[in-house]
Amino acid sequence: MSEPIRVLVTGAAGQIAYSLLYSIAKGDVFGKEQPLVLVLLDITPMMTVLDGVIMELQDCALPLLKEVIATDKEAVAFKDLDVAILVGSMPRKEGMERKELLKANVKIFKSQGAALDKYAKKTVKVVVVGNPANTNCLTASKSAPSIPKENFSCLTRLDHNRAKSQIALRLGVTANDVKNVIIWGNHSSTQYPDVTHAKVKVQGKEVGVYEAVKDDSWLKGDFITVVQQRGASVIKARKLSSAMSAAKAICDHVRDIWFGTPEGEFVSMGVISDGNSYGIPEELLYSFPVVIKDKTWKFVEGLPINDFSREKMDLTAKELMEEKETAVEFISSA
Ligand SMILES: NC(=O)c1ccc[n+]([C@@H]2O[C@H](COP(=O)([O-])OP(=O)(O)OC[C@H]3O[C@@H](n4cnc5c(N)ncnc54)[C@H](O)[C@@H]3O)[C@@H](O)[C@H]2O)c1
Repeated sequence: MSEPIRVLVTGAAGQIAYSLLYSIAKGDVFGKEQPLVLVLLDITPMMTVLDGVIMELQDCALPLLKEVIATDKEAVAFKDLDVAILVGSMPRKEGMERKELLKANVKIFKSQGAALDKYAKKTVKVVVVGNPANTNCLTASKSAPSIPKENFSCLTRLDHNRAKSQIALRLGVTANDVKNVIIWGNHSSTQYPDVTHAKVKVQGKEVGVYEAVKDDSWLKGDFITVVQQRGASVIKARKLSSAMSAAKAICDHVRDIWFGTPEGEFVSMGVISDGNSYGIPEELLYSFPVVIKDKTWKFVEGLPINDFSREKMDLTAKELMEEKETAVEFISSA
């Protein structure tokens, strides 16, 4: 067996972490041969809850789990990390304006970015889940100048999985039969779920999704809205936000970073836009189609973009630019 890797989960007392920690600790993400030290960070009032989470992790009797460290101190949490999964963030409270929420989160992610810069390995892979995920990720990256920007990504895999699943449900196939859907832009309701380049296996034959579905108005209408609004629909039904599916998506995202994407397949991930060929402004943390090899992602290049897609890709870029401007303003004052 190899040396244990050190994996941090923040927001560790929360509902996503409750599903996520078990999956990571039993080897779903880094493989069944990779021992782990799990580091759990939450805020001070949640430390007693974390005690319970630790007890449960111990009671799972998992062979890969070498140690669990729970803390409310960044200096402890970020030390020597191989992977940081930043789930904890400030939730929107009633009556809170978008800008106020952004400001509160800039404060958190500026501080955690600085802690990554100071304490983590320079090779650390950082995945931001806490909302607003794209801009929080940009804030953390900007606050950790000694860690390559490419090591930071934010989660749009849940949206990606939702899109895949909607197509599979429509065609009566399984989610595995659908590949190469794309989520462009922000993990918000302006995101653009795009199936122009997606393929589906129907009766043993791989065809384009547009060709298989044969209903352009659904693909350009309700399909997009359902994916964009899915988070809100889950909250409405469950009175709680997506947690099981978010944890599964985090596992998919991090496993692909660790082991690479399958040949011929791409996935969606929020990454730094520098050098993209799709006309998305530089220095945005924007969700793109990527392939991953040797723990390094690359843009999927050269996909033709039609006018319908162009408009939607620009709209979500505009929202991200506005978020970025506000965040940058707060970074200098936070
Ligand atoms: N990107 C995505 O696809 C996606 C999907 C689902 C949820 N989310 C977001 O993930 C976040 C977590 O969701 P949840 O359902 O687990 O929420 P939750 O409220 O159940 O848990 C969040 C936890 O984070 C902790 N926390 C707050 N500030 C912290 C800080 N500074 N450091 C460490 N921990 C801190 C809280 O104490 C709490 O225990 C939310 O922001 C949610 O909007 C993102």
